[in-house]
Amino acid sequence: MSLHLLTDCHVATLVPAPNDPLGLCRDAAVLWDDQDGLLRWVGPRGQLPAGLQAVQHGGQGGWVTPGLIDSHTHLVHGGGRSQEFRLRLHGASYEDIARAGGGIVSTVRATRQASAHELLAQALPRLDSLLAEGVTTVEIKSGYGLDVLSERKSLEVARELASHRAVDVRTTFLGAHALPPEFAGQPEAYIDAVLAMLPELHSLGLVDAVDVFCERIAFSLAQTERVFQSARALGLPVKLHAEQLSDMGGAALAARHQALSCDHLEWLSPEGARAMAQAGTVAVLLPAAFYFLRESRVPPVALLRELGVPMALATDCNPGSAPCASLLLMLSMGCTLFQLTPEEALQGVTCHAARALGLADRGQLQPGLRADLALWPIDHPIDLCYRFGQHHAVRTVQAGRWRSAPFQEAQAHA
Ligand code: NIG
Ligand code: FE
Repeated sequence: MSLHLLTDCHVATLVPAPNDPLGLCRDAAVLWDDQDGLLRWVGPRGQLPAGLQAVQHGGQGGWVTPGLIDSHTHLVHGGGRSQEFRLRLHGASYEDIARAGGGIVSTVRATRQASAHELLAQALPRLDSLLAEGVTTVEIKSGYGLDVLSERKSLEVARELASHRAVDVRTTFLGAHALPPEFAGQPEAYIDAVLAMLPELHSLGLVDAVDVFCERIAFSLAQTERVFQSARALGLPVKLHAEQLSDMGGAALAARHQALSCDHLEWLSPEGARAMAQAGTVAVLLPAAFYFLRESRVPPVALLRELGVPMALATDCNPGSAPCASLLLMLSMGCTLFQLTPEEALQGVTCHAARALGLADRGQLQPGLRADLALWPIDHPIDLCYRFGQHHAVRTVQAGRWRSAPFQEAQAHA
């Protein structure tokens, strides 16, 4: 066992105190064990227990936060959709493109054609962008395979990323993302196929949660409920792409199934928000998709705040609505576009993001939780929301181990 002690730093524990939502501690010390990868002690350096034998690290006066958590991505996918971007800039809507056979289905074609090796090679640079910003946990959805072999390939690639980089990957099965061409006009038959894929992928240990895209261009409330019932019967938690383009009532349905999160939510109704508050469902806000689809309706942040619904912020990294792999940019956009406070934005990529994934062992810094840390050369944690499009020379501890820079790891694996 090796203990590690980080001093000459300040810490934002994200454990809230009265009038201090970030749990700030100046001139702090952080102690962890690199064997079990857990935190042993966090607090003011002056109160550190005496006589510790530990490997010493200096933080050069920077700030330590929990390792960041991107709680909603579609990081593993084939190809890109820049031609659709051009069409949208000329006036076509995201829905028009989807109805004309483009959109998600065009990425399904590219993902089916790609080998696992190709998918991995395409996903790694996106993952590296996240890691270079202090991300230590990333959620990755399937949903561009839409048949059992291609969904399996995507989920396996997502899991394999964690053997190439120091990151924890959580995988979500999103078989009900779009209707694949071979099921055109037969959405119920496709839901039957999704229900058949789920136990198979679950038995392979590839599914941490189950998601559905509930929308006019995707699946109905009743179809969503069929998927949720199957997931719950297998003991799997659910999440929902809800009220992104219209108010389908998906959030209330998801809340009835104790969903971990409802994501997007631009069209969320007051009833939906109240249902989420009662169920303890997290609102995962996705400002990159809002920005890139040039939406004008923002999620009801003031109402979510008033009701005490925890809000997370994620990249939604995907080729259609959010070709973005910067979680720090989401901090800026969350504040500027959605009017989150900087404190709420920081909770959104740490403690509330952990909750959106059902993970009680991270997202805050306190003894017994994972030693997932980011050490930032900044004057105050709010700098992470304030500066945008800039590189921070962050250093990261993941599961108790210092992480080398992504490019070094890439070379090590080349
Ligand atoms: O979260 N809304 C559905 N799914 C993705 C977009 C997928 C795509 O366009 O490829 C999203 O925005
Ligand atoms: Fe998404």
